[in-house]
Amino acid sequence: MSIATKDIIIEKVKNSKIDQVDFDNLAFGSVFTDHMLVCTYKNGAWETPTITPYQPITLDPSAKIFHYGQSIFEGMKAYKDKNNDVFLFRPLDNHKRLNISAARMCIPQIPEDYFMEGLTTLLNLDKDFIPTKDGGSLYIRPFMFASGNGFHASPANEYKFIIACAPSGAYFSGKVKVLIEEKYSRSANGGVGYAKAGGNYAGQFYPTQLAIEKGYNQVIWTDDTSHEYIEEAGAMNIFIRINDTLLTGPTSDRILDGITRKSILEIAKDQGIKTEVRKITVKEVVAAAKDGSLKEMFGAGTAAVISPIAGFGYRDTDYDLPELENSFGERLKKIITDIQYNKSEDKFGWRYQV
Ligand code: PLP
Ligand code: COI
Repeated sequence: MSIATKDIIIEKVKNSKIDQVDFDNLAFGSVFTDHMLVCTYKNGAWETPTITPYQPITLDPSAKIFHYGQSIFEGMKAYKDKNNDVFLFRPLDNHKRLNISAARMCIPQIPEDYFMEGLTTLLNLDKDFIPTKDGGSLYIRPFMFASGNGFHASPANEYKFIIACAPSGAYFSGKVKVLIEEKYSRSANGGVGYAKAGGNYAGQFYPTQLAIEKGYNQVIWTDDTSHEYIEEAGAMNIFIRINDTLLTGPTSDRILDGITRKSILEIAKDQGIKTEVRKITVKEVVAAAKDGSLKEMFGAGTAAVISPIAGFGYRDTDYDLPELENSFGERLKKIITDIQYNKSEDKFGWRYQV
């Protein structure tokens, strides 16, 4: 079944709330655009998507999302260039990953045309909400969950696919301090770590809260069996520069296959930066911090973009990272954001004009 923009049912707001948005002081993901896209899966098929005013949704108390957590999401951004043209970054990769998450969580696949037509129609309607100030963007949250009812612990027979958007500023306000975690695990072999499942994030809140109480912003997850290998951060993949080599761990069952991560790897290679995708031990990072060969660390993700790490904590010791003149993170951030905001040539073919 295929859907065309003309098929989408559109109910526009009567009064836009754009005047209430303080575009000079945008936090991350806390104010929303006028509209949202909603599509229901019922009787084995997706119904026609509807764009409605942004509003609460009503669910039965027995809806399976509440009890069994069948819930997945994506994170994307829309960017405006100086001519007010609107761009997405590798959106088909988000669609693909949403369906990978869906398969793992027994949620039905959302067809590419529902995703892309729904998204672009919504963006065209709400494009005035896309910030134009440096570093601002429209954060896009496509998500799917079990809206079908019943306490039986089995997949629901009804689902919602929704896209909501939030004009947003930076995710982190400054450099990030991270704590290498050895007790709690984010994910396990054979688990759902590679899926963007809501529960992965819920499970991180408690250990992250403990780290925040100790003065850190974010946890660095290690592997669940030995806790010897660095895996990723709570909402980001992680890059570590030792001397002039940029390292990141391999993706696996336990790690989200980040679109920013894979883009950075390609850009770095293109820039002649030596990269290695391999298991990274906590031991080597601590040793490198001690002997000065650890030059920088940064997190990478759609919300976080490239977020520099100021230092890390490990077993009650803090290791600060030096200020760098030739930061790979800064260089790569400029290149990737120039592509996203249509300020440079898109030699990789990642930009998608809406
Ligand atoms: N790892 C986790 C756990 C995340 O939540 C995210 C954010 O989406 C990422 C990595 C980065 O992925 P991407 O670059 O596709 O946004
Ligand atoms: C993103 O970067 O889009 C994410 O989904 C991370 C999120 C937890 C804010």
